[in-house]
Amino acid sequence: MNVCDSDMLDSVFLAYGASKVNNLSEADVVILNTCSVRVQSEQKAFSYLGRVKEFKQKKTCIKIVVIGCMAERLGHNIKKRFNSVDLIIGAKDIDNAALRIMNLFCTNYSAKKVNPEIKSEIVRYVTIMRGCDNYCSYCTVPFVRGREISINYETIVNKCSSMVKNGAREIILLGQNVNSYQYEDINFASLIKKIVTIENLERIRFITNHPKDLSDDLVKIMATEPKVCSHIHLPMQSASDKILKAMNRKYSYEHYLKLIKKLRTAVPSVSVTTDIIVGFPGETNEDFENTLKAVKTIRFGGLYVFRYSPRPNTTAAAMIDDVPFEEKKRRHAIILKESNKISIEIVSEMLGSIQQVLVEEIKNGIIKARTRTGRKVFAEGRKEYVGKHINVNIKEAKINSLFGDIV
Ligand code: 5AD
Ligand code: SF4
Repeated sequence: MNVCDSDMLDSVFLAYGASKVNNLSEADVVILNTCSVRVQSEQKAFSYLGRVKEFKQKKTCIKIVVIGCMAERLGHNIKKRFNSVDLIIGAKDIDNAALRIMNLFCTNYSAKKVNPEIKSEIVRYVTIMRGCDNYCSYCTVPFVRGREISINYETIVNKCSSMVKNGAREIILLGQNVNSYQYEDINFASLIKKIVTIENLERIRFITNHPKDLSDDLVKIMATEPKVCSHIHLPMQSASDKILKAMNRKYSYEHYLKLIKKLRTAVPSVSVTTDIIVGFPGETNEDFENTLKAVKTIRFGGLYVFRYSPRPNTTAAAMIDDVPFEEKKRRHAIILKESNKISIEIVSEMLGSIQQVLVEEIKNGIIKARTRTGRKVFAEGRKEYVGKHINVNIKEAKINSLFGDIV
């Protein structure tokens, strides 16, 4: 979501005549887009602010802007810690961010309405909804991003169409919980049915899903619509019903397993990826072992595992954070090790196979492409392949990337 918001801002800045530079010495303004999901993300942002503060002592005219969830959560308290910060714009005000930043330099901009530049990249993100109403007990998102709002489907379809006209071939639909998309009588499955009709669009992906809301209609579309990729990110968080209940996830492990079976029956090639939290308050070794067992049973195509960190205002923050840090680290390492082992097994099975991939870019004669299941594939290639489907014979397989020859 942050990558997408930064990208959207980038397009508006380009339209204002600003351009992106890659180092501080050339910059007039530094914009830090922040995340509040875990305490580590906030610590990283603070340490970056420390570094730019030092830089500002040398180049005093540079402006520092903090945007996004941390700006929403902490507001002017950020300025108390870093008086070098010139402007703070919270996640809920992101739509006006570019204008407010331009006004730091020249007030005339307030009168100027611009059409954001449409970038000609192969893979583009499109936000279909903002906010979240689920209130999982550990999560700060409903507080910093606000209530769930679905964007008008006509706006979304038009945006996708113009991106495709400008060269996009894959669209990734984004929302905190795309399965609960609803605008008038259009739900997520019917939104996809509209988007697949866009000519020259080759692929559609979507993130992220909530197991309590995944509909049979969506599973059916994944099975029948060739443009919809065989990949679904379905955060499990835990396989212990006690912990799932304490997390307010509103499903049981059994329900989760049933969904996996349903998906795999309908789309045999599907890759399911997930998120897992270890060390949630009250997570015993037995609860953790259940999650580990689930990781072994389900064999995810990939996973992100996080050590629980209490977030202010959430209901879990009032629970006793009773799993010691060292134990969280141990559980984190065990899940990661198991997941890496499974990933190696999955990619090893792909050795010698021919994979159909969509080429996203070329750098130094090497194309970067992706399988329908979302795995990165590299091969020697030519510029003409960018944006096209090609076949690659897989010769080498690493956890996060495959290498091969174009057939
Ligand atoms: N502590 C640890 N992980 C968290 N996540 C969300 N909130 C927390 C938290 N307080 C994880 C969840 C979610 C992912 C985006 O981040 O697994 O799916
Ligand atoms: Fe957070 Fe739960 Fe909403 Fe995901 S569904 S953003 S974890 S509250």
